[in-house]
Amino acid sequence: MPGLDLEEIAIVSYVLDDAGRRSALDPQDMVGLVVRTPEFLREGWELGLHLGSPPPPPRHLLVLGMGGSGIGGDLLRGLLYDRVGFPVTVVKDYSLPAWVGPQDVVFACSYSGNTEETLSAYEAAGRAGARRVAVTSGGQLADRARAEGVPWVRIPPGLPPRAALGYLLGPMLGALHRWGWTEGLEEEVGEAVAVLRELSARWGPEVPTADNPAKQLARALVGRLPVVYATSRLSEAAALRWKTQLNENSKVYATWNVFPELNHNETVGWALAGQPEGLLEVVVLRDPEDPPRLVRRLEITREVALGAAGLHEVWAHGHGRLSRVLSLVLFGDLVSVYLAYLNEVDPTPVAAIDELKRRLES
Ligand code: F6R
Repeated sequence: MPGLDLEEIAIVSYVLDDAGRRSALDPQDMVGLVVRTPEFLREGWELGLHLGSPPPPPRHLLVLGMGGSGIGGDLLRGLLYDRVGFPVTVVKDYSLPAWVGPQDVVFACSYSGNTEETLSAYEAAGRAGARRVAVTSGGQLADRARAEGVPWVRIPPGLPPRAALGYLLGPMLGALHRWGWTEGLEEEVGEAVAVLRELSARWGPEVPTADNPAKQLARALVGRLPVVYATSRLSEAAALRWKTQLNENSKVYATWNVFPELNHNETVGWALAGQPEGLLEVVVLRDPEDPPRLVRRLEITREVALGAAGLHEVWAHGHGRLSRVLSLVLFGDLVSVYLAYLNEVDPTPVAAIDELKRRLES
């Protein structure tokens, strides 16, 4: 393990490589849920294939959802960015844009079915006459969809919403395929499931730190502020996912941004941000398909801005877009859980979110 002395290697290995120690820190087995991502994706895809008769292609497609239930929409937007003839808008709020109308299709995604912003936007979509589909494990969203005859996908209950990513993204992909709105998704999902299975085995908890790049990166992030950069519209959602998983699983502050936009503002901020050496640790999510112009931007950004900050590149795997973006997501999900272990926190509870929801209800 580069950069570590023998004592540190012993501590890291004790925390990350000892199964008993891991399960003491992770009693609800978040890591086990992360490595099941490919199975959840396959099951979610199949649920979407059973959605009823196809609506005509929409003027706009909207995805409503907050936090762990909204990220599926961000991923979908990136996947479809340059391949469908309708815009995809992700709504993470109570209200909808004024232009929403009867020619639009809305996926309302809430794992619990009880998230007030999503419920409010779902009602607004109904008032606007949009065609709605709900994706949920139950709660008020399921009750309302049932009562109003709105088609809904029932996903299995009992998971932390952010661990149910495959169940939240999969049904939308399955529906788009069944409705004939986009080509090639069946092959992409098949490839993604196979690639993610293989990567889960390579980066999973049983693989010792010395051979496990996800554990090694988690070690490098201890005590640092992670800055996650994406290089494209496709991987933008993966960078956001990294940030939110670092927040919720590892309980740390983190930031994210995307090229080329960050070259027009954030790059200047590094003039002072890079000064306290050892504070920031940059993770760049790389894609073998990054165009040469982007690669050049990255090289220049390193030289003119990033200075002494630690810098790590994480590469996408697979051929199709879905494999590429989800391989980046999987790596980040595992890093966030391993960092939780190194921070000696249980990755599953999100006490501040629970408390906030409780206080808003009362
Ligand atoms: C919890 C999590 C949160 C929730 C969010 C919305 O694991 O990731 O970000 O996803 O508070 O709740 P749901 O998903 O139930 O609509």
